[in-house]
Amino acid sequence: MTKRIGILTSGGDCGGLNAAIRAAALRAHHGYGWTTVGLRNGTLGLLERPVDAVELDPDRLGAAVARQGGTFLGSTNRGDPFAFPMPDGGKKDRSSEMMAGLEGLALDGLIGIGGDGSLDILRRLLLPTGLAFIGVPKTIDNDVANTERAIGYSTAVAIATEALDRLQPTGASHERVMVLEVMGRDAGHIAIAAAIAGGADVVLIPEVRWHLKHVVAHIAELRSAGRTSALVVVAEAAGHSDEAADADSEAPYHGVGEWLARRLSKATGAEARATVLGHVQRGAMPTAEDRLLASALGVRAVDLLAEGKADRMVAWWNRQVIDVPLAKVVGRGARTVDHDGALVRTARALGICLGDKG
Ligand code: F6P
Repeated sequence: MTKRIGILTSGGDCGGLNAAIRAAALRAHHGYGWTTVGLRNGTLGLLERPVDAVELDPDRLGAAVARQGGTFLGSTNRGDPFAFPMPDGGKKDRSSEMMAGLEGLALDGLIGIGGDGSLDILRRLLLPTGLAFIGVPKTIDNDVANTERAIGYSTAVAIATEALDRLQPTGASHERVMVLEVMGRDAGHIAIAAAIAGGADVVLIPEVRWHLKHVVAHIAELRSAGRTSALVVVAEAAGHSDEAADADSEAPYHGVGEWLARRLSKATGAEARATVLGHVQRGAMPTAEDRLLASALGVRAVDLLAEGKADRMVAWWNRQVIDVPLAKVVGRGARTVDHDGALVRTARALGICLGDKG
């Protein structure tokens, strides 16, 4: 029987989303003879009348689509159906409007590509409808529970590593301490991976409690050994783990890089400069690894629907694509960096200072 499935991207965009949409649509068409409907702008398209959705044409989903950053369907991280932000500043439950929009599409299943917040919202929206829902994990933060990898993380790490590669020569030329602030929300996955790959001297992540005095001491040590410049990576949420919690920034996930550069300059006497990498980490052309992951997860999501499964998330574990109940993913909080795990141990072994020891 010909089925009609929907697909949407929700939450912050990242590299690999288009590859995942493409893979799911091609699998649905070529594997099962199904049609795929792309919902626009996450859940926002469900509020439009007619609903903002488009049937995906497999002939227009060539390999070029997998190379593109962003999401051609659009996305939102401001569309919580149960607490929808209204122009007057208030919040309104618009879930029934969205469910009505969804009903009108007459779908047999829905694939949602999102982080844990989006997957939680979509699950709550869809469970009462009985529509089969499969989640696909994506986020540069790589903090979704029960998957080792989320789509977008590899690309963000590659960009942050490249930034360090570029900061090193300019820092060395001017004998400066170069501070790079990376994203990651409550987790330090991007920071620790980029610090190792990009040869940083210091990395500060929210999972390891750090003290400015240890960072200052490490930089002083490098200088007395003849080094005239240093590379410091700081995760955007690292400021909440220590004295930097009083960082002169109002925004919860921004400002620690500037704060740190100022403090380091004062304490070490070296010139320090901060670079905030920001959304550059999200919009890039996806790495080969992200394209692969996205393709594998997109295909498996459709296979799960074909097997009659629902309320599950496809995941990457031990180099295998598996699936796990969504109930074991949502509401679990961020999957943070294991402070005694392989990456932290590798960083320490390479002499990278994590700011917790003198
Ligand atoms: O969750 C992805 C992410 O890029 C975080 O790393 C960052 O804190 C946040 O989204 C930024 O959100 P926005 O795009 O709304 O500024």
